[in-house]
Amino acid sequence: MKKIKFLLVVLIMAFSISLTPAQNLPLMPYPKSVKQLNTNFRLDKEFTLFVEGNPNERIYPAATRMLRRLSDRTGLFFPQDVITSTTKTESPPMVISVKRPGKVILNEDESYQLFIYDNKIQLMAETDLGAMHGFETLLQLLSADENGYYLPAVEIEDQPRFPWRGLMIDACRHFMPINMVKRNLDAMAAVKMNVLHWHLSEDQGFRVESKVYPKLHQLGSDGLYYSHAQIKDVIEYAAARGIRVYPEFDVPGHATSWFAAYPEFASAPGPYTIERNWGIFDPTFDPTNEETYTFLNNFFGEMAALFPDEYFHIGGDEVNGKQWDANESIQKFMNENNIPDNHALQTYFNQRILKILTKHGKKMIGWDEIFQPGMPQNIVIHSWRGTKALMEAAQKGYRSILSNGYYIDLIQPTDFHYLNDPIPADSPLSEKEKKNILGGEATMWSELVTHENVDSRIWPRTAAIAERLWSPQNINDVDTMYKRIERISFLLEEHGLLHIKNYEMMLRRLTNNNDITYLKTLVDLIEPVKIYTRHRQGVKYTSFSPYTRVVDAARPDADAARKFRNEVDRYLADPMLNSSNLIPSLLRWVDNHSKLMETIKLSPILKEIEPLSHNLSKIASLALEAIEYINNNRPTPQYWVEQNLDLIEEAKKPYGQAELMLVSAVEKLVLTAGKN
Ligand code: ACM
Repeated sequence: MKKIKFLLVVLIMAFSISLTPAQNLPLMPYPKSVKQLNTNFRLDKEFTLFVEGNPNERIYPAATRMLRRLSDRTGLFFPQDVITSTTKTESPPMVISVKRPGKVILNEDESYQLFIYDNKIQLMAETDLGAMHGFETLLQLLSADENGYYLPAVEIEDQPRFPWRGLMIDACRHFMPINMVKRNLDAMAAVKMNVLHWHLSEDQGFRVESKVYPKLHQLGSDGLYYSHAQIKDVIEYAAARGIRVYPEFDVPGHATSWFAAYPEFASAPGPYTIERNWGIFDPTFDPTNEETYTFLNNFFGEMAALFPDEYFHIGGDEVNGKQWDANESIQKFMNENNIPDNHALQTYFNQRILKILTKHGKKMIGWDEIFQPGMPQNIVIHSWRGTKALMEAAQKGYRSILSNGYYIDLIQPTDFHYLNDPIPADSPLSEKEKKNILGGEATMWSELVTHENVDSRIWPRTAAIAERLWSPQNINDVDTMYKRIERISFLLEEHGLLHIKNYEMMLRRLTNNNDITYLKTLVDLIEPVKIYTRHRQGVKYTSFSPYTRVVDAARPDADAARKFRNEVDRYLADPMLNSSNLIPSLLRWVDNHSKLMETIKLSPILKEIEPLSHNLSKIASLALEAIEYINNNRPTPQYWVEQNLDLIEEAKKPYGQAELMLVSAVEKLVLTAGKN
């Protein structure tokens, strides 16, 4: 009998190994190839490292940061201070070998090999950029047991699937301070992202100092802009982490703030003031005015020198054409030059801008609206309205990147973004066409966030996008992704990210510094309404609205709610029907409303979520009744089901622009009970 059992275990093990990749290490993005060995490298206070080969200088501070992070997490007092090119150490346990200095440019070699054995660690890379990715992998592997800290022995060979793995930060709708940008650069590096797309001009704000046209930042920014010194500092900070930084100056639309300073370049007479509302607005550059190009040539020249990256984003999205239609001289120009419509007029403008950027040594990238007949193939198409432009561009020989499906401002669940593949398995593209798809970017539009809660919209979901863009296509199991991302989310706090800690701060403010226990129980289970619904529920948001309500504290893809939904699915699929994982939470939720009411009474700002709180208690009670029917196999009266389906419909409604994320699971319980 014992023998058979043993054989069975071996068989099952062999089977599961053959079904790799089993993503059972706490890594994200998961490496291309992982071989686990049956031993550990024990970390102790003698730990030292040594860098050899021919790296870029950035490797030394990066190695120092890694050492300090290991030390901070373990409390071990390592002997080495600051690692430099002259650091000497006797037979160091960790050796980092780099063949050549990396360049922070598109398509640089970012591969690395990390071999951890019981007595030594070898990190090998073509460039220091690859080696830095290896540092992050090593840090994610740090584990502990009763004997101390260790790294599991592994042989990892890793390289990215796509060369363009970005995050776009909109610093215009709400200004984002430098420390927000820097902590997010650290977080990007931690998940091997390599491009920061900095959205710097909008209807609502012009966010860069211009020495050539100082009125731009003086009149277009409310004083909230980055100086040249700050921009250079961020670019240097990013480059030290292997991250490119490129700017977006959105033209010809989304341009009101420019015209607050220079109304003469708009297509309708001024004066203009900085836009305070959200939406798509009319002010648009006049593409028929030669002075427009002189102005943009001078300004783009200044910015081309400030931002060393090869790429330069011109926006180009959502030009509504109203000012063009209403302007007689523009209509006359179109007639005289055989420009049939506004798309063609925008293409005329883009062609002029392309010449300017090319002269300044830049490659042009723009939102998918710029993908129009007549544009040369050396531009990059940034797909946001769908994947159609991405695919068509690739087929026609244009390079493209994907953001459709990575709009993290829309509050969609992590797995939605995770499974959004720039080149899905059933893609009709040829191998050559696939090479034109460079990768993608998560986009953090900032209408509905401030520097206070923006991290909670970016992280941890962006780590799943980072994995989609780095890891092999077949690394796509949602359950293991959720297990791993929870740990990565926690590790990101090491860089000062606020996605976890500001949650409780915001709840404390909502209660005027009273006990948040019961409020947290509720808010853990709700999410903001999705897509752009928040703008359509009778609340008029502007740049000066408060973003401090429950809906702003509530997080996307609420963990506690998702775990409950999964637990209900497990319960209903289990022939033994073990409800013991469900009952304690449900009992707590039943009681929560009366306790939370004490807080709500003293916090008028919470009044709007009172119905959510009440509904939580009601559906928790209902879930308990349903489980009772199911467990005891008791016949369920028809009226019970009908009456409670009404309650379920009520509980699905949002209040305070947030929704309870348990209702679908309770509905399943009620319907199952109803079958009795
Ligand atoms: C965009 O979301 N308007 C690019």
